[in-house]
Amino acid sequence: MFSMAFAAMVPHHAAIVIGDRIMSDHKPLHFVTLLGSLRKASYHGAVVRALPTLAPDDVTIEPLGSVGDFPLYNADIQAVGFPAAVLAMGEAIAKADGVIIVTPEYNYSVPGVLKNALDWLSRLPTQPFAGKPTVIQTGSPGLVGGARAQYHLRQSLVFLDATVMNKPEVMISQIMTKVDAATGQLTDEATRTFISTQLTAFASFARR
Ligand code: FNR
Repeated sequence: MFSMAFAAMVPHHAAIVIGDRIMSDHKPLHFVTLLGSLRKASYHGAVVRALPTLAPDDVTIEPLGSVGDFPLYNADIQAVGFPAAVLAMGEAIAKADGVIIVTPEYNYSVPGVLKNALDWLSRLPTQPFAGKPTVIQTGSPGLVGGARAQYHLRQSLVFLDATVMNKPEVMISQIMTKVDAATGQLTDEATRTFISTQLTAFASFARR
């Protein structure tokens, strides 16, 4: 008979066969999304909203709070106490199995609001990105898909000691053609499929 003790001994990438039933022993995963745009009609916001529907069955995805709720980083504010929004986001990241950062590129780099959020989070006594599986998705109206921002972001994530997945890389070119402006939905099938592939890879990466 199947028992919890037996389940605990099975490597987590194996399937368990009981009689004629195959049970996935994949640990359910919970990912959180960090959005680098404050714009109401943000194309990257549309990507974030699509992610839960593109994830593998055993993965749930939930948005973190807005980086717009953070004040500009100031060590004097920190000395008085971390803002509640920073503490809440730090806790949500710490609890999550992985973080998906979705952001536009500003001036060939990371938008200030996102960098500001990373700066705050990096000062928390228990730094939540340390060892945290993390993956990046960028987009842009041009053809390069936010690649330059993506590599600047990776550089900051090295200092935060995040465990960033290398590939597949999601860089969405001409993002305004992939989102239906009227409904705010990510409608482009090829983009949805590719993001799905990345999320499946990220789930395996987070389970390692
Ligand atoms: C941009 N944009 C932009 N695009 C790009 O591909 N490379 C870049 O370096 C920049 N730089 C840049 C700077 C600033 C200050 C703004 C406001 C915009 C264009 C940007 O990608 C575009 O506005 C996106 O639509 C922003 O993403 P959301 O807000 O739609 O998610």
